[in-house]
Amino acid sequence: MFNATIRPRRLRAGDTLRRMVRETRVSPDSLVYPVFIAEGAHIYQEIPSLPGQFHYSPDELPRLVERLQQHGVSRVLLFGLPAQKDPLGSSAWDENGVVQQGIRRLRELLPDLYIITDVCMCEYTSHGHCGVLCGNEVDNDRTLERLAAIACSHARAGADMVAPSDMMDGRVAAIRDALDRSGFQSLPIMAYSAKFASSFYGPFREAAGSAPAFGDRRSYQMDWHNAREAMRECALDIGEGADIIMVKPALAYLDLIHEARARFDLPLAAYAVSGEYAMTKAAAAAGLIDEYGVMCESAIAVFRAGADILITYYACELADAMRAGVIG
Ligand code: PBG
Repeated sequence: MFNATIRPRRLRAGDTLRRMVRETRVSPDSLVYPVFIAEGAHIYQEIPSLPGQFHYSPDELPRLVERLQQHGVSRVLLFGLPAQKDPLGSSAWDENGVVQQGIRRLRELLPDLYIITDVCMCEYTSHGHCGVLCGNEVDNDRTLERLAAIACSHARAGADMVAPSDMMDGRVAAIRDALDRSGFQSLPIMAYSAKFASSFYGPFREAAGSAPAFGDRRSYQMDWHNAREAMRECALDIGEGADIIMVKPALAYLDLIHEARARFDLPLAAYAVSGEYAMTKAAAAAGLIDEYGVMCESAIAVFRAGADILITYYACELADAMRAGVIG
């Protein structure tokens, strides 16, 4: 017969009680908001592949600042869309490049904003690959010096943290060394450590115009069959001086977030990428799901798995949900 002594439902009676026994606690302090800065002027345009997200030219950044303040989001991850691309991606380390301009403008507008920059080449190269080409191959070691130059130029423009997303071997060490030699010993590195060659990046590549012109990214981004290798990538980045490690994408990689949390002591970030956001938006627009519920549940899944930091296009809405006590 049913044993009535043990009744888990007792602790589910009423919101006040349920909130007391919640196991996963979250706060808007854990959220990072990705932002696309477009070179030019008077650009404030919704991104078709990412409904509700915008391209901002530097002069339009007051609109972003207003949005951040309205929702109490204090941390951003910047991506740049340059006006010109070339095979070397040289605008990426230009002192007056689009991200560098954006950093300086945001710093003026909101001095306390915590500015993280994505360090990669794919938005800047005409071929769309994340590094310097040698024939049709991405040349790992020649790319390292370029990545280091990009990171230093972001630091000089006023970035608080750099986040290399290119997946070249040895890039954390190269960037750490260059930052240190430029006087930025205290500037932390958040490494996209376990970054997979994922189909979930589609809407981002649309937004950033960064789809590879030929081939794909499987010679540098990870094969999504591999979990042990993901841990190896995390360990390597930690050994090279990463301050924060990352698993990306998030929702399809909860096992790796869980495993990285168990193995490593560093703060752990997860990136809920463009495809995760766009799928939720599309399913909601089709009337198939409740967007708010799916957004909240997906975010909590990532924290429950062990992430400390969530990079998400829903940062503003999630910050509101956390403050309202719907989650957290
Ligand atoms: C740059 C970069 C990408 C993303 C973050 N940094 C694209 C890619 O690797 O193709 C994806 C972010 C997203 O999908 O939201 N390398």
